[in-house]
Amino acid sequence: MRRGTRGGGRRHSNDERCDGSEQRRSHHRHGSHVGERASVPYVSQTIRVVDVPFLDLRAQHAPLREDLLAAIEMLIDTSEFTIGPTVVEFEQQYAAFCRRKFCVGTASGLDAIRLALVAAGIGRGDEVIVPALTFVATFEAVTQAGATPVPVDISDLDYGLDATAVAAAVEPRTRALLPVHLYGQLADMSRLVEIAQARELVVIEDAAQAHGATRDGRSPGEGTRAAAFSFYPGKNLGAMGDAGAVVTDDEDVAAGVRRLREHGQSGKYRHETIGWTSRLDAVQAAVLRCKLPHLNGWNEERRRIAASYSDRLNGLGDIALPPTPPGSEPVWHLYVIRTAAPARLAAYLQQRGIQTARHYPEPPHLTAAYAHLGYSHGRFPVAEALASQCLSLPIFPTMRDAQVDAVCDGIAAYFAHG
Ligand SMILES: Cc1ncc(COP(=O)(O)O)c(C=O)c1O
Repeated sequence: MRRGTRGGGRRHSNDERCDGSEQRRSHHRHGSHVGERASVPYVSQTIRVVDVPFLDLRAQHAPLREDLLAAIEMLIDTSEFTIGPTVVEFEQQYAAFCRRKFCVGTASGLDAIRLALVAAGIGRGDEVIVPALTFVATFEAVTQAGATPVPVDISDLDYGLDATAVAAAVEPRTRALLPVHLYGQLADMSRLVEIAQARELVVIEDAAQAHGATRDGRSPGEGTRAAAFSFYPGKNLGAMGDAGAVVTDDEDVAAGVRRLREHGQSGKYRHETIGWTSRLDAVQAAVLRCKLPHLNGWNEERRRIAASYSDRLNGLGDIALPPTPPGSEPVWHLYVIRTAAPARLAAYLQQRGIQTARHYPEPPHLTAAYAHLGYSHGRFPVAEALASQCLSLPIFPTMRDAQVDAVCDGIAAYFAHG
């Protein structure tokens, strides 16, 4: 992602993605594997630098190649390309992974949120509280459901919705809360659910970045109406294209999403409501089934890398490390540090062959797409400060220790003489 491009509503391409990875470009430039650079003109001659892509999906897929090909070949044989055994089996497996009763696959994460909102009865005239810093899809889902997103500031303690601010923001038109588990860490769901129960609000979770995360022993979709996931390729569990899913313990919501994803029909040509075409593609379900058994291991690797970063970067320059409240077990979809001049640090690291990204440099309420909501600069100070200071460091399960070292050494060098 380049700065500002997502805010304008442009759909991400293969090499400019919502998770900031620049997979194709890095491969073209550096070959298929990360390697040592012979010389880097802008940094000290004595430093040997290791190339570090923001994300390396090819390294993730290489050991799975045979399994993936076999799964796709099987689909060619069965030719069940929409909702059939492959989709149903993945849904059952992902529901079990999430410890939820139901999983309903959708065409994308955005659709998963939108369909969950609509299935839960949210629509025209309703207001939905959303965090002021998130990927724009959170806002889009609310708008596309016919409701109005009402941003509320985030907390510096976890970067999720600030529960105290939420309690103060609830108004008669507020019908739902849509917390986002930003960067792979759950928002303070215990407090948010308490507030929602007291005010009779629906809670739908945007868990697009939080596959496998828990907080206070709670997982997404537990004690709420539903949680929505994205399987965009760069996510902790990623498809080979677009895909998403709703997980829920609520049978009515599951049935509603099932109808809505397929033209509002409850049986062949029995259209009960107006729906969409948003089924989970069977090819994507086949890919996700191959990858799901690896997800816990990949999340563990992310945790190991995050711990290493936190250890090595603590106290360097003006860096603020990501907050992790007690009881939180994030899955580190992103490792986001804060610094006063993130673009300058990013440019310095880029010259050493290290790719970084920004999540997100422009909060949705300040984008052109949401200017009509009428919020100005300064309205959500915590979210806006994070947006101006955030820098996402490379983190992916196949990242080598030498690459982590290169990132930490690069940041240390920047603060020493950058
Ligand atoms: C927080 C958040 N919400 C929603 C989405 C939308 O997911 P998708 O791109 O699969 O539609 C994403 C992913 O890009 C996301 O990171």
